Amino acid sequence: IKRITTSALRDMKTRGEKISMLTSYDYSTAKVLDEAGVEVLLVGDSAANVFAGFETTLPITLDNMIYHASAVARAAKRAMVLADLPFGTYQGATEEAYKAAVRMMKESGAHALKLEGGEEIIDNIKKIVQSGIPVCGHLGLTPQSIYKFGDFGVRAKEDAEAAKLKSDALALQEAGCFAIVLEKIPAHLATEVSKSLDIPTIGIGAGNGCDGQVLVVNDMLGLTKEFKPKFLRQYLNLYEEITKAASSYVADVKAGTYPNESEQY
Ligand code: KIV
Ligand code: NA
Repeated sequence: IKRITTSALRDMKTRGEKISMLTSYDYSTAKVLDEAGVEVLLVGDSAANVFAGFETTLPITLDNMIYHASAVARAAKRAMVLADLPFGTYQGATEEAYKAAVRMMKESGAHALKLEGGEEIIDNIKKIVQSGIPVCGHLGLTPQSIYKFGDFGVRAKEDAEAAKLKSDALALQEAGCFAIVLEKIPAHLATEVSKSLDIPTIGIGAGNGCDGQVLVVNDMLGLTKEFKPKFLRQYLNLYEEITKAASSYVADVKAGTYPNESEQY
């Protein structure tokens, strides 16, 4: 099997073939998604939310992220494994950002890193890219800045923020990023940005004009019951399926029908 590389993703944009990305936090799920043909497995810091139950992505550590990313990397035979650098590991001194990036690459086996932000972290992105690590940008609703934004609403609806997003996108491309995630921005803006760039854009809540799409796997599988934003398409109701399975198991154990004759030694 041939590994999906940054240049393969660029070629897909050139050909007009859309890129599929899903998040992944564990070995078993990642193996299924890889074999199903998902091109990029994003080890998102959304693990803080859906895996660990935190309200924001801020608490997750670099060690936590390395643990998740290494599990996903061991499962992925074809997909590119893209790992988020967590809050606080790359926004300060360039040397610190570089060290965090190197640790993630060495210790997890991920193939690329995603960092939130534009101009304000551009020097750190350049340093990481120049060291040979592929970097994916992330603009729009960047959840590590949730306390700056105040809520999880749509970003860049106003002209000033839209203009900054457009110049940030160009700056990220200029800095050597191989792709940019665009989260929760107006579809027309995401389309304009996607057309203006040579590198692919991957949207979440950013409309159909992006070069690819990403969703949080727990959300698209219907495991996160209460989370129903407009952009989310639920492909399965896993909450309901697991409820059925778990309650059948409870009933069988209580009835003494599990295990049966053929299920014992
Ligand atoms: O952590 C994450 O799941 C993400 C995606 C929503 C883009 O960054
Ligand atoms: Na993330």
